[in-house]
Amino acid sequence: MYDLVIKNGTIVTAADTYSAEIGIKDGKIATIGTGLEASDTIDATGKLVLPGGIEAHCHIAQESATGGMTADDYRSGSISAAFGGNSCFVPFAAQHRNMGVIETLDLYDSRAQGASVIDYGYHLIVADPTEKVLAEELPEAFRRGVTSFKVFMTYDLMKIDDRQFLDILSIAKENGALTMVHAENSGMIAWMSERLVEAGHTQPRYHAVSHPALAESEAINRAISLAKLVDAPLLIVHVSTPEGAALVSDARMAGAKIFGETCAQYLFLTRDDLDRPGMEGAKFMCSPPLRDSATQEALWRHLQAGTFSVFSSDHAPYRFDESGKLAKGPDATFKQIANGMPGIALRLPLLFSEGVAKGRITLQQFAALSASNAAKLYGLSSKGSIAIGMDADIAIWDPKESRTVKVEDQHDNMDYTPFEGWTVTGWPVTVLTRGARVIDGGALVAEPGHGQYVARDKIDLTGYPGHRAAELDPATNFGARIMPETRS
Ligand code: URP
Ligand code: ZN
Ligand code: ZN
Ligand code: ZN
Repeated sequence: MYDLVIKNGTIVTAADTYSAEIGIKDGKIATIGTGLEASDTIDATGKLVLPGGIEAHCHIAQESATGGMTADDYRSGSISAAFGGNSCFVPFAAQHRNMGVIETLDLYDSRAQGASVIDYGYHLIVADPTEKVLAEELPEAFRRGVTSFKVFMTYDLMKIDDRQFLDILSIAKENGALTMVHAENSGMIAWMSERLVEAGHTQPRYHAVSHPALAESEAINRAISLAKLVDAPLLIVHVSTPEGAALVSDARMAGAKIFGETCAQYLFLTRDDLDRPGMEGAKFMCSPPLRDSATQEALWRHLQAGTFSVFSSDHAPYRFDESGKLAKGPDATFKQIANGMPGIALRLPLLFSEGVAKGRITLQQFAALSASNAAKLYGLSSKGSIAIGMDADIAIWDPKESRTVKVEDQHDNMDYTPFEGWTVTGWPVTVLTRGARVIDGGALVAEPGHGQYVARDKIDLTGYPGHRAAELDPATNFGARIMPETRS
């Protein structure tokens, strides 16, 4: 006897589409079969039964690179994610300079505990890799189940240099962690910005001008080279250019442990949105910036071809008021406006509508990009698939339902959505985390605190041979273990 049975639905995984019933017991998928009996049943007639989404790039209860706090905390952020078909999310825990890493994780635990309606973990942003952080705290973070570390190559308050990047890549690799990088050339952006502002070009549209495509491709090339030197796995987040995507693809074809992520806004929006009157364009400011329609097409090709393992929202919610985008007043220059846009509830509906419903990607690709790939890369080994023994994290979708996007349906703390008025076909109607309904019939039914912290495992690198630079061959040289204490 099961606790819950899902009947009459079509199961979709990254491998298959088939009809069967799912029997859930103690929060796990206990069986997949027919004629199952339980005290509780969900009738999924006409619906698709998918792995619950895993949102692997979002900023929740986080101080931004310009200082402000995101509008969403773990309660509102998780609720919005759940309405968008997610059973789990992995926001960032951001170390700031002069803060320890363990102190940072404790702070985020206090922000998340008892607040989230879906399961969660954190990627650790490393902004101050001191010797103590490298030698003691990153391994300790890994033991706490924080198995991915993010670094920034730009933003004055966050950026690390190439040597620090190599230290972090090496420590991450030793522990089985995945390094993630925001790859943009900081000097190019600063140089461009200074000249634009001096010439009086301060409106939001110049944010995109100041972040040229070359700044991304230069930094991606450098980041991949650093990772290859020490044969460490590296994921390039929010790739926004065809040039950047091609670098990721070439490195993958060569067997390097390189992974890519792109985000909804780069497929669905363009920089034309920054041209809106007054400060309206600020709603569409993010880094890297929106590009053009040729870029959108190229990024679709890369999504189809498997260059991108992860497809995220990069939900970075700053309201269009004094608490967010307008904190520095109505005449602020683009340099003073918080970067980022919201979209955690729309990542999957947009991908379904524009991807699956329009025939650009298969249901299997949708399942992989929803959850399965992120689960493997980020060590969420009990999640991301519909299989016996896995957590019963499930999203039941109505592929025919069509809705018009409205800000009030996002269930976040935002006062705008960049997708207002879009028509989207295919919506999640029921979302389970560990077998319990979080969203049911379009309503929130779980309490804050239902979501639990998930300690993650090491990254699964099956199929990526990689290769160490010859100079680091331990047989002939000093070995790949470059610990801070070995330096002269
Ligand atoms: O503009 C963005 N994406 N803001 C969020 C922080 C980041 O760089 O991911
Ligand atoms: Zn970033
Ligand atoms: Zn981000
Ligand atoms: Zn619960």
